[in-house]
Order: sequence, then structure tokens, then C-alpha cells
Amino acid sequence: MIKFISNNVNQTEDLGKRIASVLKGDEVIAMFGDLGAGKTAFTRGLACGLDFVEGVSSPTFAIVNEYSGKFNIYHFDMYRITSEDDLYSTGFYDYLDNGVLVIEWSENIEYALDENTIRITINKTDDENTRIFTIEGLDEYEVVIS
Ligand SMILES: Nc1ncnc2c1ncn2[C@@H]1O[C@H](COP(=O)(O)OP(=O)(O)OP(=O)(O)O)[C@@H](O)[C@H]1O
Ligand SMILES: [Mg+2]
Repeated sequence: MIKFISNNVNQTEDLGKRIASVLKGDEVIAMFGDLGAGKTAFTRGLACGLDFVEGVSSPTFAIVNEYSGKFNIYHFDMYRITSEDDLYSTGFYDYLDNGVLVIEWSENIEYALDENTIRITINKTDDENTRIFTIEGLDEYEVVIS
């Protein structure tokens, strides 16, 4: 488990970039954390690190946005996904192994995540610009990431 403290949105984007640099192209990155935690900011950095520099925003209505960079990136927002049928219809299972999946509101699809999933939990703090990141599944890259 890696702990990382971000003191502003740029540091969160940079963390996303560093994590991008260790990806092989078929990872599932499950993000946990409240509204405004920084899930989309992190994903923006990650996509940038994979050479996708156009707009990245929460796919709240679309459920999934696709970006193409060094790898295909599937950016999910599971906020409205409340059943396994819903999840199935997003194409989640078809995208697995075909690119990097980055998932906001993974709380809603916990049952669909396997043991290889990279888990990133973002906690807010009393300071409005400080976030605590807990990263599970990337311990071997700790030197690069933190
Ligand atoms: N250290 C930080 N890291 C990330 N964002 C921060 C930080 N400090 C302040 N912020 C602000 O918090 C907000 C994070 O927004 P973002 O859209 O990334 O959150 P989110 O977790 O995707 O929320 P939602 O669940 O609504 O999609 C932005 O307004 C950003 O400027
Ligand atoms: Mg978001």
C-alpha cells in the first residue's frame, strides 16, 4: 500500500502521470472517494501521461468516455450504476483486457473488481486543498510513484 499526500490539484494530476508511466495497458484502476475528491483530476493526469491531452471530464451522463493515447483508456463514472444489469450494459465486461479502465465511483461495482485491480482511495481532509491517496496494487513501483 502506498500513501501519498496531495496539496493541490496539480500534485494530483502529477500523481496520475507517474502512475500512467508504469502501466502496461490492460489495468483496471478503481477509484473510491466522495464528490469533489479529485477522481477526475487524477484521471486527467493519468490520460495526459498516456499522451491524451484533450478534455477529460466526469462521464456522468455518458457513463463511459473513451480516450485514445498510448493505450485505449476507458473512463467510467459508476455513480448511477446500481445493478449488475446496469453494469453489463455499460460494456464494462467487453472493455476489460482491451485497454486501461479508470473508474469513478467504484463503490457501486465492488463485486465486479478482481484481485488484480489497482485501488485508489482519495480522502478529503480539513484543508480544502489537501487529499490523502491510498494506492493498493502498485507497491513494486513505489519508487516511481511517491
Ligand atoms: N489536492 C487536490 N487534488 C484534486 N483536486 C483538488 C485538490 N485540492 C482541491 N481540489 C479541487 O477539488 C475538485 C476535484 O474535482 P474532481 O472533478 O476531480 O472530483 P471528482 O472526485 O471527480 O468528483 P465527482 O465525484 O463529482 O466526479 C476540483 O475543483 C479541484 O480544483
Ligand atoms: Mg469526477
